[in-house]
Amino acid sequence: MKTKGVIFDLDGVLCSTDEYHYLAWKTLAEKLGIENFTRADNARQRGVSRMESLEVVLEKSGKAYSSEEKLRFADYKNEIYKEMLQNMSPSDLSTDVRHTLETLSAKGIKTAVGSSSKNTPAILARLGLSNFFDAVADGNDITRSKPDPEVFLLAASRLSLLPADCIVVEDAESGVDAGLAGGFRVAALGDALKCGKATYALDTLSDLLKIL
Ligand code: BG6
Ligand code: MG
Repeated sequence: MKTKGVIFDLDGVLCSTDEYHYLAWKTLAEKLGIENFTRADNARQRGVSRMESLEVVLEKSGKAYSSEEKLRFADYKNEIYKEMLQNMSPSDLSTDVRHTLETLSAKGIKTAVGSSSKNTPAILARLGLSNFFDAVADGNDITRSKPDPEVFLLAASRLSLLPADCIVVEDAESGVDAGLAGGFRVAALGDALKCGKATYALDTLSDLLKIL
C-alpha cells in the first residue's frame, strides 16, 4: 500500500517530553502524599489528556477532590512541566528523528503531528519545527483524546489524505488503539510495542523509512 502521509505522535515519539510528563506528575503525586506513583501508572497516562492523566494519579490517593481542586492540581503539574520545557532547544531533536523527517520530506511524503498535548505548539517551537509539518492537530483542537481517533482523523483531513493512505507513529497503547480505530496503519515504538496490536514494530523512528 502506498504511503502518502505520516502522522507522528509528539511526546515520546519526536522528543523525550514523555519523561518530563512523568517527572512532573511524580512531583504532584508526592505533594499529595502519594508515594507509590510508578512508571507503570505513567504508561497509562501516555496519549491521554491532562485531566484524564490526573485521574490516574488520583486513583492512588484514596481521597475525593472537587473539580476546582483537580484543576489546581493539573495547573500545578503543567507549570512544573512547562518549566522543564524551558531547557529544550533544537539540539533535543535526535539525529535519528531529524534524518527521518528530512528523508520523508525529500520523498514527497506529507508529515503531520497528532498529539493530545495542549503544549504542542510550544514544544514544536522549542525544537525549531514550528514550520516543518504539513499539518498539526493537537490537544487544543479536540474534545476526545486517544484512544478516540479524533486527533488523527483531523490531522489526516488537514493533510487532505485518507486514513488508508497514512501511517500513524505512536509510543502509547492508547495511541495505537486510536490509530487503528481511525482506519490507519500504525507503527509502534517503545512502550507501545508491549501491547502487540500495531501494524508495524519499530526499534527506532528511522525504521519507518523501511516500511514506506
Ligand atoms: C500526551 C501525553 O501527548 O499529551 C500525555 O502522552 C499527556 O501523557 C497529554 O497527558 C496532554 O498533555 P498536556 O501537555 O496538554 O498536558
Ligand atoms: Mg506519546
